[in-house]
Amino acid sequence: MSDLRFDNRVAIVTGAGNGLGRSHALLLASRGCKVVVNDLGGGATGSGKSSAAADQVVADIKAAGGEAVANYDSVEDGAKIVQQALDTWKRIDIVVNNAGILRDTSFQKMSPEDWDLIYRVHVLGSFRVTKAAWDHMRDAGYGRILFTASAAGIYGNFGQANYAMAKLGLVGFSNTLAIEGKKKNVLSNTIAPIAGSRLTETILPKDITDALKPEYVSPLVAWLCHESCEETGGLFEVGGGLFTKLRWERTEGKLFKLGRAISPEQVQKAWGAITDFGKATHPTDITNSMQPVLGNLQSKSQGGNEFIDVDQALGFE
Ligand code: NAI
Repeated sequence: MSDLRFDNRVAIVTGAGNGLGRSHALLLASRGCKVVVNDLGGGATGSGKSSAAADQVVADIKAAGGEAVANYDSVEDGAKIVQQALDTWKRIDIVVNNAGILRDTSFQKMSPEDWDLIYRVHVLGSFRVTKAAWDHMRDAGYGRILFTASAAGIYGNFGQANYAMAKLGLVGFSNTLAIEGKKKNVLSNTIAPIAGSRLTETILPKDITDALKPEYVSPLVAWLCHESCEETGGLFEVGGGLFTKLRWERTEGKLFKLGRAISPEQVQKAWGAITDFGKATHPTDITNSMQPVLGNLQSKSQGGNEFIDVDQALGFE
């Protein structure tokens, strides 16, 4: 198997001055990728700014023989970051949306500012960078986009209502870009990583954060961003040696006949069936997800004789 190379490819890695982003940038650059090392250089809760973090990573990449430029803009100014890639190398092939901060506190104590700042850095920042790159990727017929979610978004986590909102928002964002970008070979995936970094060092014991190296996450990022990888719309939990893909699972549920009222008591009575995963399915898209509902509509109309085209009913054709 030959090495996965990124020669002549240009990547932006946001928040690449520390932790996971730094590791992604170093790996991509070591494989020939030209990297815009973006980092605002602020604190873990979004305060301050500095050029030191991005500069150090660029110096490390260059010392190893790679090509990189530093960028100190906030991801909220995503267009400037993309412009720097275009000004420097005239193209943008890969966007790794990684920059992030925490404003952890129980929902009871969460301020509107805690909510807004997390939204702005994670969601609006990812939007602004990706939006600025999108047309260039479509026009080039090539693009790889990566979003950084979190287990906190997938499962919820005490003290992280703001962060979980933002992180799962990115999954829906990526899933839609995967659909819209596919024909133009612009692919989009999401990772939910776990790694020792300044964001986790206050939460996890030191021996665990030391062991969970960001370098255990970056190989998945590199693979998902490689031209030979056709995966899109995927969500992966990765870290500490584990590489795994998630999907939605849905119970078979209870299908009530239409044309008559459905009472809360009927829902109560059917609760076992509604929540029983014994005959679960794994819907992969909206058409797939709507199938039982459209089947139900069909059986209501004229005893099931009427044909309903699912795509047409959903406005896809
Ligand atoms: P980190 O704090 O080491 O790195 C994040 C970097 O983003 C920092 O260098 C910071 O200066 C930069 N940054 C923050 N706001 C920025 C902005 N507005 N514009 C540009 N850069 C900005 O943290 P870590 O752990 O490497 O986090 C990377 C990503 O992974 C984040 O999105 C985080 O939420 C996510 N994540 C990390 C997990 C972990 O276990 N470390 C778990 C789940 C998600």
